[in-house]
Amino acid sequence: MSEKLVFPEDFLWGSAQSAYQVEGNNCNNDWYEFEQIPGVIKNGDRCGESSDHYNLYESDFKLLRSLNQNAIRTGIEWSRIVPEENVVNEDELEHYHRVIESLKKNNLTEFINIFHFTIPIWFERKGGFLKNKNLKYFQHYCEVLAKNFPEVEFWNTINEPGVVPLMGYLYGDFPPRRKSLSAFTKVYRNMIKAHGIAYRKIKEHNPKSQVGIVKTIPYFYQKYHRKLWKKWVVSAMDFAYNQVMFDALKKGKLPFIPFAYKNWLRDSSDFFGLNYYNPVYFKFKFGIPTGFDSKLPSQNQITQMGWGIYPQGLYEDIMRVKREFKGPIYITENGIATLHDEERQKFILSHLIEVNKAISDGADVKGFFYWSSLDNWEWAEGFEPRFGLIGIDYATKERLVRESARMYGKIAKNNAISKQLLDKFELVAPHKSKIQQTD
Ligand code: BGC
Repeated sequence: MSEKLVFPEDFLWGSAQSAYQVEGNNCNNDWYEFEQIPGVIKNGDRCGESSDHYNLYESDFKLLRSLNQNAIRTGIEWSRIVPEENVVNEDELEHYHRVIESLKKNNLTEFINIFHFTIPIWFERKGGFLKNKNLKYFQHYCEVLAKNFPEVEFWNTINEPGVVPLMGYLYGDFPPRRKSLSAFTKVYRNMIKAHGIAYRKIKEHNPKSQVGIVKTIPYFYQKYHRKLWKKWVVSAMDFAYNQVMFDALKKGKLPFIPFAYKNWLRDSSDFFGLNYYNPVYFKFKFGIPTGFDSKLPSQNQITQMGWGIYPQGLYEDIMRVKREFKGPIYITENGIATLHDEERQKFILSHLIEVNKAISDGADVKGFFYWSSLDNWEWAEGFEPRFGLIGIDYATKERLVRESARMYGKIAKNNAISKQLLDKFELVAPHKSKIQQTD
């Protein structure tokens, strides 16, 4: 007799990556220019050839399929498709056709990202997403994709609409290194509008494609704080960063937007792509918010990114998306940067337990994508953080299959987590309902 934690039939087991982070040799976008500035990237790294996935995609997909994954989330690099204003590069269209064909050939369901942090240099020179009138250029890019890639089954419109505004326009750690609350607000609103544009354009040409946003929801721990003032401040931040998105996607509500966009935004996601990594803990001095930590004060165990590990936050987030969004959910990113693969194995298991629990509590979670398929370029942190199921030797580009990739593959194959595996990591499923006993 054996016991296992089972997942729904047809569950997608995949891993995620983004074009710029893995492809290599992208020299025509804002990140490429940003990396030339001394001191902005840890250890002075530059993305350069990265994991060379642009050339090695075929063997990478084969490898991931051999590890029982049945889905991949990857992306298209805007600056390759539209290298200059109004110029479409046919060779690059062909390249991405081959990439998608290879995914299909390997029986990997494709989730294709339209925007994942990078913008072409020409678009950046025009003011990027800071200027409302520039949205027409993004619309053109979406039309090119919609017309040229009818074969894509799942599209992700904008990866994390809040991250570029936050990191690039409020904190200044990403390009274009601005530190302005008003710029943050404008860019965030334009990113949400850009999602509406992408959704409508793809649906116009390919009504059968499934199109959805991808949003990171850090778990705002102190929402449940007892001190009223703090609770209010954290809830206000949560409203601005997270709730705004739900209201836009479902009701077309976004403060001060023109009527046309309301219609574009209302019901503009066929599914919700949820990214989850860590809890967030807001700091106060004399009652005034002074910033936040990406871990709880009591947490010593942190990842290479300095983030705390808090699997319960994933459960809470899924249940929130269930309540607010009321549609299918894919976990589009969840992962850990660590040099210790055992830690990665435990991280995956403990988060999958929470996914399973949310499913048994009625959430319609249809798939899970570990971040990341391969070690890759971690933005301003350079190459140091190791997120991959597959390790990369950056000097030789050799792929090293980690034990976590095999463990994840076993779970994918069985569509279940065995009791032995939970025991090995001293984990207990907090709920019994989905533990099945089989002979
Ligand atoms: C982003 C990825 C990034 C990961 C880890 C996510 O928010 O979508 O591009 O690598 O976080 O930082």
